[in-house]
Amino acid sequence: MTHKIAILPGDGIGPEIVAEAVRVLRALELPLELETAAVGGAAFEASGHPLPEATLALAKAADAVLFGAVGDWKYDKLERALRPEQAILGLRKQLGLFANLRPAICYEQLTHASSLKPELVAGLDILIIRELTGDIYFGQPRGRRTAVDGHFPGAEEAFDTMRYSRPEIERIAHVAFQAARKRRGRLTSVDKANVLETFQLWKDVVGEVHAQYPDVQLDHMYVDNAAMQLVKAPKAFDVVVTGNMFGDILSDEAAMLTGSIGMLPSASLDEHNKGLYEPSHGSAPDIAGKGLANPLATILSVAMMLRYTLQQAEAAGRVERAVQSVLAAGLRTADIWSAGTRKVGTREIGDAVVAAITGKTIAKTS
Ligand code: IPM
Ligand code: MG
Repeated sequence: MTHKIAILPGDGIGPEIVAEAVRVLRALELPLELETAAVGGAAFEASGHPLPEATLALAKAADAVLFGAVGDWKYDKLERALRPEQAILGLRKQLGLFANLRPAICYEQLTHASSLKPELVAGLDILIIRELTGDIYFGQPRGRRTAVDGHFPGAEEAFDTMRYSRPEIERIAHVAFQAARKRRGRLTSVDKANVLETFQLWKDVVGEVHAQYPDVQLDHMYVDNAAMQLVKAPKAFDVVVTGNMFGDILSDEAAMLTGSIGMLPSASLDEHNKGLYEPSHGSAPDIAGKGLANPLATILSVAMMLRYTLQQAEAAGRVERAVQSVLAAGLRTADIWSAGTRKVGTREIGDAVVAAITGKTIAKTS
């Protein structure tokens, strides 16, 4: 069976990192049909909208989407509906991609790239599961108006709505418990139940769903404490589940523990495991087009695509082992470079991963 993959490179470093991930995907020689479309600022330039109908239709028809990155400061003055970020938010919503999996793994060779002491992060392997289609990101009503009450009646004010329904919490809780069961059996649910009604419901519902997973150890933690524990003793975590906004923040924090956000893939899944796969980092316009960006997060996103959507665990393993061997050979982009390793560009990393997959050996550098 031929799977259809939509390739959406986007803006900034998106096109160059996606190009390497596509070469890796092709090197596997699987029956795949790839089709590329514009998204984000690139799509706005070409057709006046960050998520054109044709791009959305392609993404809907595909079995999986490989996404680069969107955004550039030059679009910050556009009205919100036309900004590049609306493309990724629109895809998440329109495709029902409610479960965002963001692993934070500290590779043995990169322990010293972390801003934390090596002993705190050596062997780190956390999975952050972020709810992706609800919360204050999508809650209505939202907008600007003249305040009728509050501290300054008559003043201009802006407001957003934080909200979660029971079924939204239940389905992400099931994803999280099932993931924990396949790992070390520990789940931390992060909330702000001490202040917010939304997260009191979150905590109650996660606790109820726990009854179906007695083999998983569940803890509840307030988000401020979770932010602190992540830098104090990150290895105490196994799987973390939280809402859209807290997950946005904590997943960046967890990413940095590993040394570089340039190493971290992500999967955004719907209820049938159809998914959008993207690096956890952004479009980095400052280094776009220079061939300096680290393509490994995008290449590892391909591995997640193989595992979760295409059910090709063996091929996923090949990609992951190829990445490990490239790191072991001492090749590094600037973001993960350290003394004694060889600094190379985006293309060379892609070449090396492809060579490792197709069985050619890479010379060890020191
Ligand atoms: C992320 C990003 C997005 C988000 C932006 C680009 C809209 O920060 O995927 O974490 O806030 O979800
Ligand atoms: Mg983010």
